[in-house]
Amino acid sequence: MSHHYIRFTDVRYTYPNGYEALAGISFLATHGEKVAVLGLNGAGKSTLLLHTNGLLFPTSGEVNVGDVPVTKSTLPIVRQSVGMVFQNPDDQLFMATVEEDVAFGPMNMKLPQAEVERRVSKALAMVGATELRKRPPFTLSGGQKRAVAIATVLAMEPSILVMDEPTSDLDRRARRDLIDLVKGFDHTCLIATHDLDMALEVCPRAILIRDGIIAADGPTEEIVGLEF
Ligand SMILES: Nc1ncnc2c1ncn2[C@@H]1O[C@H](COP(=O)(O)OP(=O)(O)OP(=O)(O)O)[C@@H](O)[C@H]1O
Ligand SMILES: [Mg+2]
Repeated sequence: MSHHYIRFTDVRYTYPNGYEALAGISFLATHGEKVAVLGLNGAGKSTLLLHTNGLLFPTSGEVNVGDVPVTKSTLPIVRQSVGMVFQNPDDQLFMATVEEDVAFGPMNMKLPQAEVERRVSKALAMVGATELRKRPPFTLSGGQKRAVAIATVLAMEPSILVMDEPTSDLDRRARRDLIDLVKGFDHTCLIATHDLDMALEVCPRAILIRDGIIAADGPTEEIVGLEF
């Protein structure tokens, strides 16, 4: 994929119960841009993020990742470039041990064993979770689960990083490490968060979602000053 951008074009999404959670979302996050997705509980942030790697498909409108439209048939290629950290780490951890969870993506990519091992060690070190390697994920604390969930995504070496509330549960040091890690990631990033200080530090631009539409889009310091 030559261009690591995400484009939403008039995306609407109605949940099966008839609730329209996205009511016409259009934006472009260009290559290397870090964009915060802000808004109150229930605004539609997670619903929006789930469209970036085809966990949800628009009821109408289109999502593009680089020059590839996100459809059922493009999912393998889309998921290789878009790494998604879910709001709830329990949705991301399902293997018997931490190292198996982190190895899962690289193994699915059919990488050689040595490369899988390199990526697992690197990703765990990046989130400070090396010593959790042999632990069953269900025995971890909330913040430890969060760190490992982030490692599972980093191990895929995605060219676009999408994170839903990545700093919730993290203690001060883990939060600081994550902020530094994301700042050092030079690809496109989309981060839904209530952590406005992180948004200000990491993302020059923010999109404010209100009732499924983009209520504002601009420099983060201006957006966080708005009433929402
Ligand atoms: N599976 C579902 N079925 C029906 N409605 C849903 C479903 N998931 C979410 N919704 C509704 O869609 C709206 C947007 O939800 P979403 O999870 O995208 O919000 P959010 O901005 O991520 O909120 P939060 O800050 O609490 O994470 C909410 O009104 C929510 O109740
Ligand atoms: Mg959410």
